[in-house]
Amino acid sequence: MSALHEKAISFITQMYDEKQYNSTDLHNRIEAVCKEIASTGSYSHTYDELNYGAKMAWRNSNKCIGRLFWDTLNVFDYRDETSPDQIFKRIKEHLEFATNDGKIKSTVSVFPPKSNDLEIRILNHQLIRYAGYETNDGIIGDSDSISFTKKCMELGWSPKYGSFDLLPIVIQVNNETPRLYELPHDIVMEVNLSHPSHDWFKDIGLKWYAVPVISDMQLEIGGIEYNAAPFNGWYMVTEIGARNFADDYRYDMLPVIAENLELTHKSNRFFWQDHALVVLNEAVLFSYQEAGVSMVDHHTAATQFKQFEKNELKSSRCPTGDWSWLVPPIAGASTHLFHKPYDNTVHSPNFFYQQRLY
Ligand code: ARG
Repeated sequence: MSALHEKAISFITQMYDEKQYNSTDLHNRIEAVCKEIASTGSYSHTYDELNYGAKMAWRNSNKCIGRLFWDTLNVFDYRDETSPDQIFKRIKEHLEFATNDGKIKSTVSVFPPKSNDLEIRILNHQLIRYAGYETNDGIIGDSDSISFTKKCMELGWSPKYGSFDLLPIVIQVNNETPRLYELPHDIVMEVNLSHPSHDWFKDIGLKWYAVPVISDMQLEIGGIEYNAAPFNGWYMVTEIGARNFADDYRYDMLPVIAENLELTHKSNRFFWQDHALVVLNEAVLFSYQEAGVSMVDHHTAATQFKQFEKNELKSSRCPTGDWSWLVPPIAGASTHLFHKPYDNTVHSPNFFYQQRLY
């Protein structure tokens, strides 16, 4: 039996068992899959399998604290789209559907899987992301995007050298030259940041986008590798407030906020970073709420994750997790996550990192 056979059977068996399909259906399906693999070298999922497999992949994503809602994932089947133009059109539809005027819907769009004669990749790390430039006067924009921004420029994209320039969508089919597409601004929801009690905050001029859509990971279900399967949830406040704007290798805003708070004594014993972090996170959550954009705070997310753990145990599954990712970057020990170990076993289906193409 080939590795693909084994992975297919194991997935089908687990899924049909969880959904309590009867054993005749299970055996018929396994027989059909084996026949298909024998004659074509691969097999294709029914929509039901794709839909449930994608949900299982989210459920098995050990780094994700938001998995209580795995069962509510919206799964779009775009397996017959093979042209970059069509793929871009579907990507725009995904953004509009998932943004939903701010009431964000968790969504994955599944494009054709990797096969002997087709491989589709979206080169962007996320569908919406700001450019980053290394200039003689220092870094402008998001340093995390520097190498991808360079790639876009090589492919003909014109840099604007702003702090929040939307990067184009870059789609590659097989070994063809990647195609670039500008996202229309009206489908990209953004939130300007202000603080409920510090008036100066809005004048710093920060903003972030509403929907994080990871687009460079592989969705693997039963041995089938969907290399282009962008997926989104909604933000947890600390992703933006304690990382994207706070890390000194990202937007590095803590010194600016500390200055505005008149925390001029930058000695460690004044906890200036800690104060600045709380203010920054207050601003992010307040601004998203004011704008009507879904966002969860880290304490609520931890409580939701606790419920997920309970649900998994009740379904006779062992909840798995990656402690170093699950514990939020501020107030870690104020959540239950900090105080227990997590089993980081990686189950399939899942989302996997894949090699960057830039
Ligand atoms: N941490 C990433 C970012 O700040 C997003 C990762 C996905 N997050 C999510 N809430 N689904 O852009």
